[in-house]
Amino acid sequence: MALVGNCRMATFSLELVIYLGAILIPVAYLYRRHRVLARSTNPAPSNPTEKKQEQKSIMQAPRDDLAPPKDDPFTLEQLKGYDGSDESKPIYVSIKGTVFDVTHKKDVYGPGRSYNIFAGKDGSKGLGMSSLKPEHAVPDYSDLPDNELKVLNDWHAFFTKRYNVVGRVVDLPAAVANR
Ligand code: HEM
Repeated sequence: MALVGNCRMATFSLELVIYLGAILIPVAYLYRRHRVLARSTNPAPSNPTEKKQEQKSIMQAPRDDLAPPKDDPFTLEQLKGYDGSDESKPIYVSIKGTVFDVTHKKDVYGPGRSYNIFAGKDGSKGLGMSSLKPEHAVPDYSDLPDNELKVLNDWHAFFTKRYNVVGRVVDLPAAVANR
């Protein structure tokens, strides 16, 4: 009986290891890839090893054909109209109040796509937290710890190098309005 019990325990432990591995390995891999992204937003890498890592990123490369940034004012309410649900309109994502035109990445930000949660709004807090939860996709990031603030700033730099700036949000919550 004890042997059967031990056997079951061993099988259970093995299954647990397999399940955990199946979940953790891809997540760790993607986390690393997102970290590479964060690094690739920094100024030109100074050593060859860093350059190699930059090339390996699955994220889109920086663009050199961006239009000069615009300063058009948007309220958070107006921004909602640019969440991709109206096909005739562009898709906008705001980070720390900077409004980016992400229309050419409809496959990522369009309705039902992975990062639609950030479309038509300022979801700075969620970006800083690496969270896709709707309750985190809000503009007030004032309570983020330093490490998450850094992640948020890295995303801002990432978007600045890849998307046209079309304006700025004029009614951010007071806690982050003048940052
Ligand atoms: C296991 C979960 C995740 C997977 C499988 C994943 C996968 C990916 C992939 C494949 C890309 C490149 C997309 C492309 O350029 O076409 C990407 C980009 C991105 N990811 Fe993730 N990711 C995950 C978690 C997250 C989380 C939690 C966040 C929350 C902040 C996030 C935010 C982003 C953003 C903002 C981009 C940039 C899209 C762009 O190019 O504008 N990801 N992710």
